[in-house]
Amino acid sequence: MNSEAMKSRIEELKREKNAIILAHNYQLAEIYDVADFVGDSFELAMQAKKTTAEIIVFCGVHFMAESAKILNPEKKVLIPDASAGCFLADMISVESLRERKKEFPEAAVVAYVNSSAEVKAESDVCCTSANAVEICRKISEQQIIFVPDKNLGEWVGENLPKKKIIPWEGNCYVHAKILEQNLKTARELYPTAIILAHPECEKIIRDAADEVLGTGGMLRFAKNSDAKEFLIATESGMLEKLNRETEEKKFWSLGGECLNMKKITLPKVLSSLENDEFEVEVVKEVAEGARRSLERMVDLSS
Ligand code: 13P
Ligand code: SF4
Repeated sequence: MNSEAMKSRIEELKREKNAIILAHNYQLAEIYDVADFVGDSFELAMQAKKTTAEIIVFCGVHFMAESAKILNPEKKVLIPDASAGCFLADMISVESLRERKKEFPEAAVVAYVNSSAEVKAESDVCCTSANAVEICRKISEQQIIFVPDKNLGEWVGENLPKKKIIPWEGNCYVHAKILEQNLKTARELYPTAIILAHPECEKIIRDAADEVLGTGGMLRFAKNSDAKEFLIATESGMLEKLNRETEEKKFWSLGGECLNMKKITLPKVLSSLENDEFEVEVVKEVAEGARRSLERMVDLSS
Protein backbone atom coordinates (compact mmCIF):
# COMPACT_ATOMS: atom_id res chain seq x y z
CA MET A 1 0.00 0.00 0.00
CA ASN A 2 1.43 3.42 -0.86
CA SER A 3 1.41 6.26 1.64
CA GLU A 4 -1.68 8.00 0.16
CA ALA A 5 -3.67 4.75 0.40
CA MET A 6 -2.45 4.28 3.97
CA LYS A 7 -3.53 7.81 4.89
CA SER A 8 -7.04 7.23 3.44
CA ARG A 9 -7.40 3.93 5.28
CA ILE A 10 -6.26 5.60 8.53
CA GLU A 11 -8.95 8.29 8.08
CA GLU A 12 -11.59 5.58 7.48
CA LEU A 13 -10.54 3.65 10.57
CA LYS A 14 -10.57 6.79 12.70
CA ARG A 15 -14.22 7.37 11.71
CA GLU A 16 -15.25 3.71 12.09
CA LYS A 17 -13.65 3.33 15.51
CA ASN A 18 -14.25 6.84 16.88
CA ALA A 19 -10.51 7.31 17.29
CA ILE A 20 -8.32 10.39 17.28
CA ILE A 21 -4.62 10.73 16.60
CA LEU A 22 -2.60 12.99 18.90
CA ALA A 23 0.96 13.70 17.79
CA HIS A 24 3.93 15.46 19.34
CA ASN A 25 5.65 18.30 17.47
CA TYR A 26 8.74 16.09 16.88
CA GLN A 27 6.83 13.52 14.81
CA LEU A 28 7.52 12.76 11.14
CA ALA A 29 5.71 14.80 8.44
CA GLU A 30 3.68 11.71 7.44
CA ILE A 31 2.27 11.60 10.99
CA TYR A 32 1.36 15.30 10.88
CA ASP A 33 -0.72 14.48 7.80
CA VAL A 34 -3.00 12.06 9.68
CA ALA A 35 -2.99 13.67 13.13
CA ASP A 36 -6.06 15.42 14.54
CA PHE A 37 -3.88 17.50 16.81
CA VAL A 38 -0.12 18.16 16.87
CA GLY A 39 1.38 19.96 19.86
CA ASP A 40 3.70 20.09 22.85
CA SER A 41 3.50 17.79 25.89
CA PHE A 42 1.14 20.05 27.82
CA GLU A 43 -1.21 20.71 24.92
CA LEU A 44 -1.35 16.97 24.18
CA ALA A 45 -2.21 16.15 27.80
CA MET A 46 -5.02 18.75 27.63
CA GLN A 47 -6.33 17.29 24.37
CA ALA A 48 -6.26 13.79 25.85
CA LYS A 49 -8.19 15.01 28.88
CA LYS A 50 -10.99 16.61 26.90
CA THR A 51 -11.49 14.28 23.94
CA THR A 52 -14.80 12.49 23.45
CA ALA A 53 -13.23 9.89 21.14
CA GLU A 54 -13.18 6.29 22.39
CA ILE A 55 -9.66 5.56 21.24
CA ILE A 56 -6.57 7.78 21.37
CA VAL A 57 -3.71 6.77 19.10
CA PHE A 58 -0.76 8.57 20.64
CA CYS A 59 2.09 9.37 18.26
CA GLY A 60 4.95 10.31 20.53
CA VAL A 61 6.97 8.58 23.21
CA HIS A 62 5.69 6.27 25.91
CA PHE A 63 5.49 8.70 28.85
CA MET A 64 3.20 10.95 26.78
CA ALA A 65 0.82 8.10 25.93
CA GLU A 66 0.95 6.98 29.55
CA SER A 67 0.00 10.49 30.74
CA ALA A 68 -2.93 10.48 28.28
CA LYS A 69 -4.12 7.16 29.75
CA ILE A 70 -3.71 8.39 33.34
CA LEU A 71 -5.70 11.56 32.64
CA ASN A 72 -8.35 9.65 30.74
CA PRO A 73 -8.57 6.15 32.28
CA GLU A 74 -11.86 5.25 30.57
CA LYS A 75 -10.35 5.56 27.10
CA LYS A 76 -8.31 3.07 25.16
CA VAL A 77 -4.88 4.62 24.54
CA LEU A 78 -2.69 3.06 21.87
CA ILE A 79 0.95 3.73 21.02
CA PRO A 80 1.93 2.49 17.54
CA ASP A 81 5.40 1.33 18.70
CA ALA A 82 5.57 0.13 22.30
CA SER A 83 9.36 0.49 22.33
CA ALA A 84 9.25 4.27 21.79
CA GLY A 85 10.62 5.29 25.19
CA CYS A 86 12.46 8.40 26.37
CA PHE A 87 16.08 8.10 27.49
CA LEU A 88 15.61 11.07 29.82
CA ALA A 89 12.59 9.47 31.53
CA ASP A 90 14.70 6.32 32.06
CA MET A 91 17.32 8.28 34.04
CA ILE A 92 15.39 8.08 37.28
CA SER A 93 13.86 5.17 39.19
CA VAL A 94 11.25 5.46 41.90
CA GLU A 95 13.68 3.82 44.40
CA SER A 96 16.38 6.43 43.78
CA LEU A 97 13.80 9.22 44.09
CA ARG A 98 12.70 7.83 47.47
CA GLU A 99 16.33 7.96 48.64
CA ARG A 100 16.67 11.58 47.55
CA LYS A 101 13.44 12.49 49.36
CA LYS A 102 14.91 11.11 52.59
CA GLU A 103 17.90 13.46 52.18
CA PHE A 104 15.62 16.51 51.75
CA PRO A 105 12.47 15.81 53.79
CA GLU A 106 11.29 19.44 53.60
CA ALA A 107 11.48 19.63 49.82
CA ALA A 108 8.60 19.28 47.36
CA VAL A 109 9.18 16.99 44.38
CA VAL A 110 8.39 18.42 40.95
CA ALA A 111 8.48 15.83 38.17
CA TYR A 112 8.91 16.85 34.56
CA VAL A 113 6.34 14.85 32.58
CA ASN A 114 9.27 13.12 30.88
CA SER A 115 9.20 10.52 33.65
CA SER A 116 7.48 7.20 34.41
CA ALA A 117 4.06 6.94 36.04
CA GLU A 118 5.79 5.53 39.16
CA VAL A 119 8.00 8.62 39.47
CA LYS A 120 5.00 10.91 38.91
CA ALA A 121 3.11 9.05 41.65
CA GLU A 122 6.03 9.62 44.05
CA SER A 123 6.06 13.36 43.26
CA ASP A 124 3.99 16.29 44.52
CA VAL A 125 3.25 17.82 41.15
CA CYS A 126 4.21 17.44 37.49
CA CYS A 127 5.28 20.09 35.01
CA THR A 128 6.16 20.41 31.35
CA SER A 129 8.66 22.72 29.68
CA ALA A 130 5.74 25.12 29.09
CA ASN A 131 4.85 25.59 32.75
CA ALA A 132 7.87 24.46 34.84
CA VAL A 133 8.70 27.96 36.12
CA GLU A 134 5.05 28.79 36.82
CA ILE A 135 4.44 25.53 38.75
CA CYS A 136 7.60 25.88 40.84
CA ARG A 137 6.73 29.50 41.60
CA LYS A 138 3.17 28.65 42.64
CA ILE A 139 3.92 25.82 45.06
CA SER A 140 4.58 27.03 48.61
CA GLU A 141 7.73 25.00 49.29
CA GLN A 142 11.02 26.90 48.94
CA GLN A 143 13.08 23.71 48.40
CA ILE A 144 12.32 21.67 45.30
CA ILE A 145 13.75 18.34 44.17
CA PHE A 146 13.39 18.73 40.42
CA VAL A 147 13.47 15.50 38.38
CA PRO A 148 14.75 14.16 36.04
CA ASP A 149 16.10 16.90 33.74
CA LYS A 150 19.04 18.83 35.18
CA ASN A 151 18.99 21.54 32.55
CA LEU A 152 15.30 22.31 32.94
CA GLY A 153 15.74 22.26 36.73
CA GLU A 154 18.67 24.68 36.52
CA TRP A 155 16.72 26.95 34.21
CA VAL A 156 13.81 27.02 36.69
CA GLY A 157 16.32 27.95 39.41
CA GLU A 158 17.71 30.79 37.28
CA ASN A 159 14.17 32.16 36.90
CA LEU A 160 13.23 31.73 40.56
CA PRO A 161 16.33 32.77 42.51
CA LYS A 162 14.48 32.65 45.84
CA LYS A 163 13.75 28.93 45.47
CA LYS A 164 16.38 26.29 46.16
CA ILE A 165 16.25 23.82 43.29
CA ILE A 166 17.89 20.43 43.85
CA PRO A 167 18.25 19.16 40.28
CA TRP A 168 18.49 15.50 39.26
CA GLU A 169 21.45 14.48 37.08
CA GLY A 170 19.41 13.54 34.01
CA ASN A 171 19.52 15.00 30.53
CA CYS A 172 18.25 14.48 27.01
CA TYR A 173 20.90 13.24 24.58
CA VAL A 174 19.32 15.12 21.67
CA HIS A 175 19.58 18.48 23.43
CA ALA A 176 22.95 17.66 25.03
CA LYS A 177 24.39 17.21 21.52
CA ILE A 178 23.63 20.83 20.61
CA LEU A 179 27.07 22.30 21.21
CA GLU A 180 28.39 25.84 21.52
CA GLN A 181 30.41 25.32 18.36
CA ASN A 182 27.24 24.44 16.36
CA LEU A 183 25.67 27.64 17.57
CA LYS A 184 28.74 29.75 16.71
CA THR A 185 28.89 28.35 13.18
CA ALA A 186 25.15 28.86 12.65
CA ARG A 187 25.42 32.42 13.96
CA GLU A 188 28.18 33.21 11.49
CA LEU A 189 26.06 31.84 8.65
CA TYR A 190 22.83 33.56 9.76
CA PRO A 191 23.90 36.59 11.82
CA THR A 192 20.45 38.20 12.02
CA ALA A 193 18.54 35.04 12.99
CA ILE A 194 16.79 34.88 16.37
CA ILE A 195 17.89 31.91 18.48
CA LEU A 196 15.17 29.91 20.24
CA ALA A 197 16.42 27.21 22.63
CA HIS A 198 14.53 24.49 24.49
CA PRO A 199 15.18 24.54 28.27
CA GLU A 200 16.52 20.97 27.98
CA CYS A 201 19.60 22.51 26.30
CA GLU A 202 22.83 23.01 28.26
CA LYS A 203 23.30 26.35 30.06
CA ILE A 204 25.83 27.62 27.49
CA ILE A 205 23.19 27.28 24.76
CA ARG A 206 20.37 28.69 26.89
CA ASP A 207 22.51 31.71 27.78
CA ALA A 208 23.34 32.38 24.13
CA ALA A 209 19.70 32.11 23.04
CA ASP A 210 17.39 35.07 22.56
CA GLU A 211 14.51 33.09 24.10
CA VAL A 212 14.28 29.83 26.07
CA LEU A 213 10.97 28.14 25.28
CA GLY A 214 9.22 24.77 25.10
CA THR A 215 8.13 23.65 21.65
CA GLY A 216 4.67 25.23 21.92
CA GLY A 217 6.24 28.49 23.07
CA MET A 218 8.65 28.42 20.12
CA LEU A 219 5.76 28.27 17.69
CA ARG A 220 3.87 31.11 19.38
CA PHE A 221 7.02 33.25 19.52
CA ALA A 222 7.88 32.66 15.85
CA LYS A 223 4.32 33.44 14.76
CA ASN A 224 4.15 36.71 16.71
CA SER A 225 7.67 37.93 16.00
CA ASP A 226 8.53 40.40 13.25
CA ALA A 227 11.78 38.49 12.70
CA LYS A 228 12.04 36.38 9.55
CA GLU A 229 14.89 34.00 10.41
CA PHE A 230 15.27 31.67 13.38
CA LEU A 231 17.81 29.15 14.64
CA ILE A 232 16.00 26.42 16.52
CA ALA A 233 17.83 24.60 19.30
CA THR A 234 15.69 21.52 19.82
CA GLU A 235 14.85 18.22 18.10
CA SER A 236 14.84 18.71 14.33
CA GLY A 237 11.20 17.59 13.85
CA MET A 238 10.12 20.95 15.28
CA LEU A 239 10.90 22.52 11.90
CA GLU A 240 7.94 20.67 10.39
CA LYS A 241 5.60 22.42 12.81
CA LEU A 242 7.21 25.84 12.35
CA ASN A 243 7.23 25.58 8.56
CA ARG A 244 3.63 24.38 8.41
CA GLU A 245 2.24 27.06 10.68
CA THR A 246 4.12 30.20 9.67
CA GLU A 247 4.50 32.06 6.40
CA GLU A 248 7.54 33.76 4.87
CA LYS A 249 9.82 32.74 7.76
CA LYS A 250 12.96 30.65 7.61
CA PHE A 251 14.04 28.15 10.24
CA TRP A 252 17.25 26.18 10.69
CA SER A 253 17.59 23.38 13.21
CA LEU A 254 20.59 23.02 15.51
CA GLY A 255 19.32 19.69 16.83
CA GLY A 256 19.32 16.13 15.58
CA GLU A 257 16.60 13.47 15.69
CA CYS A 258 15.12 11.74 18.70
CA LEU A 259 15.32 8.08 17.66
CA ASN A 260 12.31 7.10 19.74
CA MET A 261 10.08 9.84 18.36
CA LYS A 262 10.96 8.71 14.86
CA LYS A 263 9.94 5.09 15.55
CA ILE A 264 6.33 6.08 14.89
CA THR A 265 5.64 5.64 11.17
CA LEU A 266 2.56 5.56 8.93
CA PRO A 267 2.46 1.72 8.58
CA LYS A 268 2.66 1.41 12.37
CA VAL A 269 -0.18 3.92 12.87
CA LEU A 270 -2.30 1.95 10.39
CA SER A 271 -1.53 -1.32 12.13
CA SER A 272 -2.25 0.31 15.50
CA LEU A 273 -5.73 1.35 14.36
CA GLU A 274 -6.47 -1.94 12.60
CA ASN A 275 -5.34 -4.22 15.43
CA ASP A 276 -5.74 -2.01 18.53
CA GLU A 277 -2.02 -2.17 19.19
CA PHE A 278 -0.28 -1.41 21.53
CA GLU A 279 -2.57 -0.68 24.43
CA VAL A 280 -1.11 1.45 27.23
CA GLU A 281 -2.01 0.18 30.71
CA VAL A 282 -1.04 1.65 34.08
CA VAL A 283 -1.44 -0.22 37.39
CA LYS A 284 -4.42 1.29 39.25
CA GLU A 285 -2.60 2.46 42.42
CA VAL A 286 0.27 3.97 40.40
CA ALA A 287 -2.18 5.65 38.03
CA GLU A 288 -4.05 7.22 40.95
CA GLY A 289 -0.85 8.74 42.38
CA ALA A 290 0.36 9.94 38.99
CA ARG A 291 -3.08 11.42 38.21
CA ARG A 292 -2.95 13.47 41.41
CA SER A 293 0.40 14.98 40.30
CA LEU A 294 -0.78 15.59 36.73
CA GLU A 295 -4.13 17.08 37.82
CA ARG A 296 -2.34 19.38 40.23
CA MET A 297 -0.19 20.60 37.33
CA VAL A 298 -3.33 21.27 35.29
CA ASP A 299 -4.96 23.16 38.19
CA LEU A 300 -1.86 25.27 38.82
CA SER A 301 -1.46 26.06 35.13
CA SER A 302 -4.84 27.67 34.67
P1 13P B 1 7.79 19.98 24.83
O1 13P B 1 6.82 19.76 25.95
O2 13P B 1 8.43 21.33 24.86
O3 13P B 1 7.12 19.70 23.52
O4 13P B 1 9.02 18.97 25.01
C1 13P B 1 8.89 17.60 25.06
C2 13P B 1 10.18 16.90 24.89
O5 13P B 1 10.25 15.71 24.94
C3 13P B 1 11.36 17.70 24.69
O6 13P B 1 12.44 16.89 24.37
FE1 SF4 C 1 13.03 12.20 25.55
FE2 SF4 C 1 14.88 13.83 24.50
FE3 SF4 C 1 13.37 12.35 22.89
FE4 SF4 C 1 12.31 14.46 24.22
S1 SF4 C 1 13.87 14.50 22.60
S2 SF4 C 1 11.42 12.43 24.00
S3 SF4 C 1 13.47 14.32 26.16
S4 SF4 C 1 14.86 11.58 24.40
